[in-house]
Amino acid sequence: MISVAIDGPAGAGKSTIARAAAEKLGFIYVDTGALYRAIGLNCIKNNVDINDPAKVAAILPDTEIRVVFFNGEQRVLLGGDDVSEEIRSEKASMTASVVSAIPEVRKFLLDLQRSFAKVNSVIMDGRDIGTVVLPNASVKIFLTASPQSRAERRVNQLREKGLEADYETILKDIMIRDENDTNRSIAPLKPAEDSVLLDTTKLTLQQSIESVISIIKEAAAL
Ligand code: DC
Repeated sequence: MISVAIDGPAGAGKSTIARAAAEKLGFIYVDTGALYRAIGLNCIKNNVDINDPAKVAAILPDTEIRVVFFNGEQRVLLGGDDVSEEIRSEKASMTASVVSAIPEVRKFLLDLQRSFAKVNSVIMDGRDIGTVVLPNASVKIFLTASPQSRAERRVNQLREKGLEADYETILKDIMIRDENDTNRSIAPLKPAEDSVLLDTTKLTLQQSIESVISIIKEAAAL
């Protein structure tokens, strides 16, 4: 079984790149950010004050999150409802960033994340996969890009879907999330010591996917 950890800041293209690489290699792709988003969404739905860690921790025992794979696509179920689309809103993103700094939330999701790598070859993306979730991963990649190019890509993504997108607002949100994710005391965003750093600022999507595949093939001797 091969496990690949891909960590990096918001908007670096991790999910698109990891999904494509997993498809090519026949691995399962696990998007761990979706789990934090589901916890955030659950707080929004239940009017839980996310700035009060004790209140967020208190509803965890009643939070039922399940992950299923349909045709290789990950779907996230919250209390039995498929929330895979709902968790993508900007509000859910910001909420996820706040709740992910709560130690009880991270602990709550740890075993679930590890369980995927026990029975499948996986590419798992997140912030702390190589450092905390899968410290013995076969391959660790830290994927990054400048905040400006990440914001630009996000704007294009939203516009392609016909959604409103303001570059300045998105850039500001990305910088706030970077700040939250990097400076929290628990499982902060940082490259694992044994990770390969890949900066995609000047790469096209196709070049980024090819780079990731060749890093995996080389490191895992495939
Ligand atoms: O990758 P994403 O944007 O969907 O992640 C949403 C939030 O969840 C992000 O602000 C950081 C957090 N997160 C985390 O703390 N650890 C992970 N392994 C994945 C995501």
